Amino acid sequence: MPQALLVLNGPNLNMLGMREPATYGHETLADVEALCHAAAARHAMTLEFRQTNHEGELINWIHQARGRFAGIIINPAAWTHTSVAIRDALTAAELPVIEVHISNVHKREAFRHHSFVSPIALGVICGFGIQGYRMAVEYFGQLQSK
Ligand code: DQA
Repeated sequence: MPQALLVLNGPNLNMLGMREPATYGHETLADVEALCHAAAARHAMTLEFRQTNHEGELINWIHQARGRFAGIIINPAAWTHTSVAIRDALTAAELPVIEVHISNVHKREAFRHHSFVSPIALGVICGFGIQGYRMAVEYFGQLQSK
């Protein structure tokens, strides 16, 4: 049975491509989704890709992922810096988590330097644009082929 990954995106990421292109680039979230599916297919993995602007919805999705996915790739967007609830949900899911940010948050405003998610993540990828998502999928791909 192919292993499945869950890719989750937080608030405002539906605006990718239109939103602050100097920071986030011109690619859309549909481009990110296509990139993730292509990377997963190379490793014979399947992938579910979602975005929400509602914190409770993201928390429900994380709860439902428990036992159903090999791992979670999450760009929590602004909730990275604010949400204990998302961190607690990820802990409760008991799945390996890779945190992804399109921009290098450490080069930006001080309030973006702290992440509630990083301490419970397997790893963090930031600053590589949308390629960071592909890198995260590749990591899970090489883990399962070991
Ligand atoms: C982001 C960085 C966050 O600080 C910001 O709030 C976002 C996107 C990124 O992908 O670079 O919405 O997570």
